[in-house]
Amino acid sequence: MKGIVLAGGSGTRLYPLTKATSKQLLPVYDKPMVYYPLSVLMLAGIREILIISNPENVPQLRALLGDGSRLGLELTYAEQAEPRGIAEALVIGADHINGEPSALILGDNIFHGAGFQGILREAQTGLDGCVLFGYPVSDPERYGIAETDTDGNLLSIEEKPLRPRSNNALTGLYFYDAEAVEIARDLAPSARGELEITDVNKHYLKNGRAKLVRLSRGFTWLDAGTHDSLLAASQYVHVLEQRQGVRVACLEEIALNMGYIDEEQCHRLGVEMKNSEYGQYLMQVAQ
Ligand code: DAU
Repeated sequence: MKGIVLAGGSGTRLYPLTKATSKQLLPVYDKPMVYYPLSVLMLAGIREILIISNPENVPQLRALLGDGSRLGLELTYAEQAEPRGIAEALVIGADHINGEPSALILGDNIFHGAGFQGILREAQTGLDGCVLFGYPVSDPERYGIAETDTDGNLLSIEEKPLRPRSNNALTGLYFYDAEAVEIARDLAPSARGELEITDVNKHYLKNGRAKLVRLSRGFTWLDAGTHDSLLAASQYVHVLEQRQGVRVACLEEIALNMGYIDEEQCHRLGVEMKNSEYGQYLMQVAQ
């Protein structure tokens, strides 16, 4: 399975924070935002990952993450000239996807919870169509919303409905079979001129090939697209890390646990950052 992190967009909702930098490079407590979605793909066992961003921010993301080899990953980069919709990531990523199933994640989405690796693995097994991930929220009108029957089967998907039929938000993580690229290519732009990911998902739903995995209320899903949600995300990570003494979305630790790198490499990465608590943590984890 191939991975894509979509880390573009205009970021205007976060101005002036994002006037000179990418939203996905802003800190969420102790690490850049893009670490969080990247960690999800790594936990899903995906190592070939395309990072898509605006032309001005690709160099910054590349400076941060490089070619990924230090983490046992293959990272490549592509530009999205204008924010023409989330589904355009599938079109831009067509060569990278290369006829395989893919996992697309939005660069401002943060997932955390026990058993997530198992959930991600299970969602890939026998993937036919698409797998969407639902999460209960208090403000459903802000999201794509899934309506299900009593057995949990998907009935409808609506983007930011004025009168939501449920509080089950669709997160910014999407698993697709190989057909998604063609579906995205055939989409007509929406009224706001974008290739809407909701239209890709509706296409699968119409053909009875869309599945919803519900993340329980014991799980955490946050997006960090506004000043308040960015602060909330930092506070969440801070509280957890201080209390438990372990780090959320620590890419080097995940790479070690997944067997992508060995202890020596993890330690080396820690030494490079030894003046920060993050670096100290890596050195400790490597032992
Ligand atoms: O976060 C989950 C939600 O993400 C879903 O519930 C919605 O169904 C989905 O449409 C999306 O809604 P948003 O309102 O968050 O979409 P937004 O346009 O803000 O884009 C989400 C992220 O993707 C944002 O960080 C910027 C990036 N992006 C967006 C577009 C449209 C791009 O990189 N390129 C784009 O063309």
